Amino acid sequence: MMTNEISRLLKAEIGLDSKTVGMSHIEAAVQSRINRHASETLGHADYLELLKTSKDELRLLIEEIIVPETWFFRDPGAFRALGQIAQMQPQPLHPQGFRVLCVACSSGEEPYSAAMALLDAGLDETRFHIDAIDVSARALEKARLGVYGSNSFRGTDLGFRDRYFTRSPNGYRINGAARSSITFQWQNLFSLEPRGPGDAYDAVFCRNLLIYFDQDTKHQAIQSLATVLKDDGKLFVAPSETSLPLHAGFAPCSFPLAFASEKKPTPEPASACAKEPIRRRPAPGSRRLWKTVHRRPPGPATTGAPFPAPPGRQVPDPEPESYPGTEKPLERARECANRGDLDQAATLCREHLQNNAASTEAFHLMGLIHDSKGEMEEAVQAYRKALYLDPKHYDSLMHLSYLMRKRGDVKSADTLALRAKRLENATSTPTPNRAS
Ligand SMILES: C[S@@+](CC[C@H](N)C(=O)[O-])C[C@H]1O[C@@H](n2cnc3c(N)ncnc32)[C@H](O)[C@@H]1O
Repeated sequence: MMTNEISRLLKAEIGLDSKTVGMSHIEAAVQSRINRHASETLGHADYLELLKTSKDELRLLIEEIIVPETWFFRDPGAFRALGQIAQMQPQPLHPQGFRVLCVACSSGEEPYSAAMALLDAGLDETRFHIDAIDVSARALEKARLGVYGSNSFRGTDLGFRDRYFTRSPNGYRINGAARSSITFQWQNLFSLEPRGPGDAYDAVFCRNLLIYFDQDTKHQAIQSLATVLKDDGKLFVAPSETSLPLHAGFAPCSFPLAFASEKKPTPEPASACAKEPIRRRPAPGSRRLWKTVHRRPPGPATTGAPFPAPPGRQVPDPEPESYPGTEKPLERARECANRGDLDQAATLCREHLQNNAASTEAFHLMGLIHDSKGEMEEAVQAYRKALYLDPKHYDSLMHLSYLMRKRGDVKSADTLALRAKRLENATSTPTPNRAS
């Protein structure tokens, strides 16, 4: 009973849906906090009273509960896309230049990756700024320190470590250029103040946080993020969260496996996604960037997480399906798509389909690949096959709906969107209003 009340407090404070981390995790965190008080007289009921009156205690409990898991260049397609988007900016309107908000930045790996990607894209550190926020003071302290162990460096493409870090006895220390344009701040996603056109952000990252919310809270969160993003600004979410912005009227962007969408209710041909990039000074040592800018096909893929989410304890940090060196064609296909090698990704997808003719995920990925190459007809066919195999494949429904609308087939688009909406409603539970 008391844990239910604590769950309500946590939801009101940071949006957390306790089911996503598991009640036993919450109970253990509460017990740990009670033990820290080292008082024999502090029972569970007293602790609940303390939580209701002390914001400090609530924050300390939150520290015990949150999952700060993160690493550099997690889902690297997002950072490649960020670099391109910054290059596309015709002129920085704000004195700070290109502006990024990183919500739920945890211990800093994500905003530092964004900074490295922007430097790699040819912007110097005076031409961009990143505001990075989180509700964990502990994680922010680590972020400001900027010293990281091996767990923060995953995968095999670690060239950035040589270029942007200095080895120290305690780990790898991030260098000045990548750190000077980032401001870390304690802030709650739900206390973001709407921004006017002059100071709204060009890009917002909010990844691997929405998975901790129930359906209503996810939508509130997207609305809140939209208020700080400028029109045509880009919102980056995690692979399993891509449908949410689309449902809120964002338009998908064409960057493969970037999981980005654009704040624009009705996609128009002359959107920022379709503009020719204006190259700034060349990017010495930069990694491969896209050579062409694709014309607004829907882009994002899922990790293959079914919708609705699997029952039982939800693992809050879905691992990307693709890791370097893997032997499985579908995983290698994602890996190639992530690198921007769409032809090889398509070949591997077909290879996978030869042995797995009923692979919904392979058809969905084929749809994304065709989309990214501007092959609309092929993309439609691939999404249809995915939906034939799994009529409840939410992301295929959303992407196909988007393509149908783009083709002018509004009726089919509406029908598909309605099917997706029904799926979504079937998984959402009524929740009380948030006190934010
Ligand atoms: C799994 S980490 C995500 C880190 C990073 N975004 C990534 O994708 O690698 C989740 C982070 O969300 C933060 N968080 C939880 N609720 C929040 C809220 N309401 N506002 C801001 N940050 C929040 C936690 O403190 C934690 O650091």
